Amino acid sequence: MRLASLLFVAAVACLIVGCVKSDETPQPKPSNKPPITWDDQGDRDWRFRSQYKMHMRNMWADCNRIVTAGRGDAVPTWHELWANAADIEQRARLIGGFWRELEQRSAELLECAADDDRIGATEQFRYLGAACDGCHLSTWSQAYLHVTEGIIEGWLRNRVTHGQAEEVDPNPPPLIPNRTVMQQLYKDYANTELFLERWMVEDLRQSVTAMQPEFKKRAERWQAVRDNAAEIVELAKKRKREGMKEAYGRMTVACLACHAENAGEGRQILVPMQWDGPLD
Ligand code: HEC
Ligand code: HEC
Repeated sequence: MRLASLLFVAAVACLIVGCVKSDETPQPKPSNKPPITWDDQGDRDWRFRSQYKMHMRNMWADCNRIVTAGRGDAVPTWHELWANAADIEQRARLIGGFWRELEQRSAELLECAADDDRIGATEQFRYLGAACDGCHLSTWSQAYLHVTEGIIEGWLRNRVTHGQAEEVDPNPPPLIPNRTVMQQLYKDYANTELFLERWMVEDLRQSVTAMQPEFKKRAERWQAVRDNAAEIVELAKKRKREGMKEAYGRMTVACLACHAENAGEGRQILVPMQWDGPLD
């Protein structure tokens, strides 16, 4: 188990390094393929679909269905409110859980360092790395995770296939603020690893402390999304309209606060419907 997890951390650490490099590669030509059908077995475009964006788009649709089910004077469609808010809640639990884990592991790492506990600090660092990896596996596209056509062909033939540097998909998404934050996290993460190996406790403390505000902020944002989504679920269960609009307002403020810092410009689909927003 321990060896397996070590290998896993090592493998995904390579992914991280590789994908930073992938910025330098040229963009592929847009595909001219006809639209895919419901079950197109020839479709390999799924490799390029960002799971992160899919979470976001699904939460956006959930929000809009919540407003559609709850706005106005008619009796709300309770099961719609319940199901859609529950979907947001579970996505926020998934994504926010990784940030919460990072927040806790980094705090424990610092405690170990203060106690001169090198083994404990190393252990906490592994868990920290596993939380970065865990979120990347739940949010990146397979192409970004370096799954190429060649790798898929190999897997289909039962071959063990590893990603290779030259096989990095030449399709880096645009550099939005979120990725700049990630690049900074990676620098601090790599420094932490180095200072751990050399047991330079003061530098170690600084590199870990540099990451902590981002962990905390993101954990809190997702917690706000999650708590307010949970409140909508509870109100819907009790068939209570009072407080629904306010919970929705607080939830979407948390979406927008993070977008203002991390999502960048130029998106058509981004802002969920307002409860009482002006009609177009
Ligand atoms: C909530 C999930 C999540 C967590 C937790 C997370 N990341 Fe990321 N990371 C992402 C997403 C999403 C991207 C962007 C992927 C994309 O654009 O398709 C990304 C991208 C990256 C990149 C690539 C940046 C680039 O320019 O290509 C690096 C490096 C990275 N993260 C490092 C880290 C490190 C180190 C940690 C842990 C300390 C971490 N991430 C924690 C979700 C996360
Ligand atoms: C902690 C940060 C954070 C929170 C909270 C958050 N988002 Fe996002 N969201 C992002 C980032 C970063 C992007 C840009 C992702 C990308 O392009 O790779 C994004 C993009 C989006 C997009 C555009 C996706 C596309 O197709 O371009 C939508 C829609 C969206 N978010 C909806 C939501 C909704 C609805 C909520 C709240 C229920 C929410 N987000 C909460 C960070 C967040």
